[in-house]
Amino acid sequence: MKDSLMQNLGLVHLQGLVSSLVLVLLTVCRGDSVQVVGQPEPVVALIGDDVILPCFLNPKSDASSQSVRWRQQSEEVHLYRSKVDANDDQNPVYRLRTSLFKEELKNGNVSLKLNNVKLSDAGTYSCQVPTLDKDQKAFVQLVVDTVFPMTRGQKAGIIIGVIIAVTILSVAGGVYMWRQKKQLKQQQEEQSIIFVDHNRNDLIQRVTKVIPITEELLQMGLIQKEDQSTITAPKTSQDQMGKLYQVLQEGGDKTKSAFYKILLKQEPNLLKELDVNFVDKYKDDLIQWVDEVKSISMSAAPEGFDPEGG
Ligand SMILES: *[C@@H]1O[C@H](CO)[C@@H](O)[C@H](O)[C@H]1NC(C)=O
Repeated sequence: MKDSLMQNLGLVHLQGLVSSLVLVLLTVCRGDSVQVVGQPEPVVALIGDDVILPCFLNPKSDASSQSVRWRQQSEEVHLYRSKVDANDDQNPVYRLRTSLFKEELKNGNVSLKLNNVKLSDAGTYSCQVPTLDKDQKAFVQLVVDTVFPMTRGQKAGIIIGVIIAVTILSVAGGVYMWRQKKQLKQQQEEQSIIFVDHNRNDLIQRVTKVIPITEELLQMGLIQKEDQSTITAPKTSQDQMGKLYQVLQEGGDKTKSAFYKILLKQEPNLLKELDVNFVDKYKDDLIQWVDEVKSISMSAAPEGFDPEGG
């Protein structure tokens, strides 16, 4: 009983001793050695930029009396030794473009400043502190972009900008189309009024479907019931048309262009025939008139738009 207790106590002691020893060993191995730390993410620069290739001692310890060597592959980039830069073996492409932050060395900051980055500077750089217990190296990758490197925000900005531009253009285009359409409608309306005026005599003579035409004008609210009675009172279609023209004259442009549209439906062949004569007779007037409308639509069109369609 007593013996086994003593044995157990001894075992516990031994266990405690071993674990303390392991702990001490670990502390010696880890704690005493200073690590050289680079950066896992690449440093991205544009041609002509000044960049910092980060490298530092961890835990923080004074590096001002250490040696610091920066290399790219086997090329000498920068050497600091015995508290001064020693760049005799430096690759000439780095001449006068490299420096350490001397006032930062005491904080263990051995980052390299590289000025006026060239495309050929791209690559993996090693940061070495040979005077430490174990000669240690860390790595930093330098990426040189030839095009404008964009952050996510900048990309989003550009996309939003494009969307806004497209929206503005479509709205402008829509407004332009709408104006064109309105102008075309106006043109057609004016043309129909001119047609109704100029072909007065022919239409009075030749339109026969006066009653349905009058009915439609009434339905459209462009003439009154009394007007309808007046128009349909005479016996011949010619006389009826004469009355209709009197009413059209009172009704004005809106009534005339409605009358033209109804004629298109009711007397399409007659209109076609008269239209040819009309265009022949008033060609010069029409050309002048079309030119006028064109110049109006040109001046109304937003800049950059070609009304001829381009
Ligand atoms: C080292 O010093 C430079 C210059 O002051 C600074 O920009 C950089 O952040 C420092 N790096 C570290 C790891 O402290």
